[in-house]
Amino acid sequence: MIKKGTKIASPKGKLGILIPGMGAVATTFIAGVEAMRTQGAKPFGSLTQMGTIRLGKRTDKRVPLIKDFVPLADVNDLVFGGWDIHGENCYETTIRSGVLERTLLESLKPQLQKLKPWNAVFERKYVKRLHGKTVKKGKTKYDQAQQVIEDIQTFKEEHSLDRLAMIWCGSTEIFLKPGNVHATLNEFEKGLKKNDPGISPSMVYAYAALQLGIPYANGAPNLSADFPAMVELAQKNRVPICGKDFKTGQTFMKTIIAPGLKSRMLGLKGWFSTNILGNRDGEVLDEPQSFKTKEESKLSVLDHILQPELYPELYKDFHHQVRINYYPPSGDNKEGWDNIDIFGWLGYPMQIKVNFLCRDSILAAPLCLDLVLFLDLAKRAGMSGIQEWLSFYFKSPQCAPELYPEHDLFIQLMKLKNTLRYLRGEDLITHLGLEYYD
Ligand SMILES: NC(=O)c1ccc[n+]([C@@H]2O[C@H](COP(=O)([O-])OP(=O)(O)OC[C@H]3O[C@@H](n4cnc5c(N)ncnc54)[C@H](O)[C@@H]3O)[C@@H](O)[C@H]2O)c1
Repeated sequence: MIKKGTKIASPKGKLGILIPGMGAVATTFIAGVEAMRTQGAKPFGSLTQMGTIRLGKRTDKRVPLIKDFVPLADVNDLVFGGWDIHGENCYETTIRSGVLERTLLESLKPQLQKLKPWNAVFERKYVKRLHGKTVKKGKTKYDQAQQVIEDIQTFKEEHSLDRLAMIWCGSTEIFLKPGNVHATLNEFEKGLKKNDPGISPSMVYAYAALQLGIPYANGAPNLSADFPAMVELAQKNRVPICGKDFKTGQTFMKTIIAPGLKSRMLGLKGWFSTNILGNRDGEVLDEPQSFKTKEESKLSVLDHILQPELYPELYKDFHHQVRINYYPPSGDNKEGWDNIDIFGWLGYPMQIKVNFLCRDSILAAPLCLDLVLFLDLAKRAGMSGIQEWLSFYFKSPQCAPELYPEHDLFIQLMKLKNTLRYLRGEDLITHLGLEYYD
């Protein structure tokens, strides 16, 4: 464990952001950062840019901005690069994705046009709805990992980068269970050379990043770096990792409402969640094997929060269903519907209906920014392996094998802020508060 108040290297120089999967989320993130730099756009939704942190007692009135409290990289020092299979530059992708307004995109056109993804590691077997146009060759997955490593090294030299961070914003891959090939680094490396089918493209990128000591975050629910071989590599090379699956729309709401119901000992009979979305992510998730990966990620949340084993009378056998409906007219403007059947005093039933009309990439983009900045901070602070304090951002938080993941958004936020306090040698905040009344 690192020491309280550990020395954190300063964020001097440029930070390269590596993105496998330059689709709607990635390009909304990049365009947003460009708009911040050139037009003073406000980073709404980003804790690193807008959040504050209380230090000491409430009477101390010390509440700095997080970015003034911990040494984060400046958004002006970020340089973007990434991989995709579609052969478009980022300007073309933003237009096709239809998330941001045309006038904003025209004003950012020169920067976005310059960004053309590198050829990707891709196999259709893992994302069945997509066809790869710009795809790496290479006899083995190991060769492909070496090509990714070369891309990264060239990018680093060309832009004189000081440090790098990688964030997977690629499509959701088919459901894979960890097997032998994922058990140890040795087995995984043998698997790369033998083209083991258990190794998906997202794992090849993650492996390349960790080999180079580059922190890695996974924004999708696929395994990617969430198995023992990758954790071993991350520990061996002293690299921070985190994932999986950005917590943005419906699950974000779920992890706000469920802890509230439990805090009042209100029971749950059923929770039906359906989503209507029409972007490319929706198209990929329309395919049963990619949906299965997402479904697992979305379903796990309620059990962990409600703990039916501790409260069988309230939460045993509640009915939980999640649907994703691909409906092209909705585009990126996802609509989430939740019907929640609860019961209270003497078992009397009640219902909650939630209709969240959200914008998927608008919710995810600030999470990408926070994650790369916090991962870079973690690396400079000497932290490595699984970064559970970043669970706040994920639907399926990666955690130590002997632990269950923490899903309650407010516990996650407290964990994140206490980690920052710890890094800076400040007292942790317990919210006890008895001292004010002595
Ligand atoms: N937007 C959200 O709120 C949200 C929330 C949670 C998770 N996610 C996940 O984030 C990911 C990105 O979402 P999006 O809306 O940008 O989807 P998108 O379809 O617009 O973008 C994904 C991109 O990944 C590319 N891709 C697929 N396989 C690749 C590979 N092997 N290498 C390089 N590129 C590859 C695709 O060509 C596409 O351009 C998805 O997996 C999605 O499930 C998004």
